[in-house]
Amino acid sequence: MNEPIYRTEKLTKAYDDGYRTVALADVDLEIPRGSLSCIMGPSGHGKSTLLHLLGGLDRPTSGKVYLDGLDLSAMNANILAEVRGRRIGFVFQFFNLLPVLSVQENVEVAMMLARVPTSEHPARARELLGLVGLEDKLYARPHQLSGGQRQRVAVARALANDPDILLMDEPSGNLDSNSERELLDHIRRINQQGKTVVIVTHSPNVAAIAGSILHLRDGRLVV
Ligand SMILES: Nc1ncnc2c1ncn2[C@@H]1O[C@H](COP(=O)(O)OP(=O)(O)OP(=O)(O)O)[C@@H](O)[C@H]1O
Ligand SMILES: [Mg+2]
Repeated sequence: MNEPIYRTEKLTKAYDDGYRTVALADVDLEIPRGSLSCIMGPSGHGKSTLLHLLGGLDRPTSGKVYLDGLDLSAMNANILAEVRGRRIGFVFQFFNLLPVLSVQENVEVAMMLARVPTSEHPARARELLGLVGLEDKLYARPHQLSGGQRQRVAVARALANDPDILLMDEPSGNLDSNSERELLDHIRRINQQGKTVVIVTHSPNVAAIAGSILHLRDGRLVV
């Protein structure tokens, strides 16, 4: 039961578009189950790359990512998509909300993709939006929301498939400190409900609530 939820072994990712960029090199890490962990480091030093590999959105050039002992890097695309859809929620660096849909519809679209039965969508979308304090914005469109509220919609949407892992890339990147504090309160509560949360961040306020902090420099883990 105390097995870490994630373990990587010499995880390496190189991009090759004309010349070779080694974005991540030989990273060995463990992420404790149920933890709130954060990944820090300067811009361009491999944080998003690492998060995408943990989420099975991209494949390593070499090395391994184990989720509960299962090697994500060895799974075929269908199985990987199944694991991702069942276990992992993402909040990306930019909001990516659909502008023509209401807040509630943005969450319901994710449920459709996660194959949650349609009859459950409205109630469950409202429940998730309540969890992030947006019960009074169900019918608003994204452009009518503040940055912090939009980011909370993105968190609710990431929970549509009821994942046990929530991966977030700079969720509070362009928020003022009040909106950030509010977002962090919700994230902390979601973590306390048992979900493992991994946050890429530059923010010391996020780091302050994290149980473990990983620092990346030039694609390497620094201790
Ligand atoms: N798809 C890609 N093709 C080529 N190079 C890439 C690609 N994605 C990232 N890189 C390169 O890999 C390195 C690490 O990028 P990454 O996006 O992981 O950085 P980051 O730490 O998330 O930065 P930021 O804080 O600015 O978001 C950078 O040098 C970047 O230019
Ligand atoms: Mg990034």
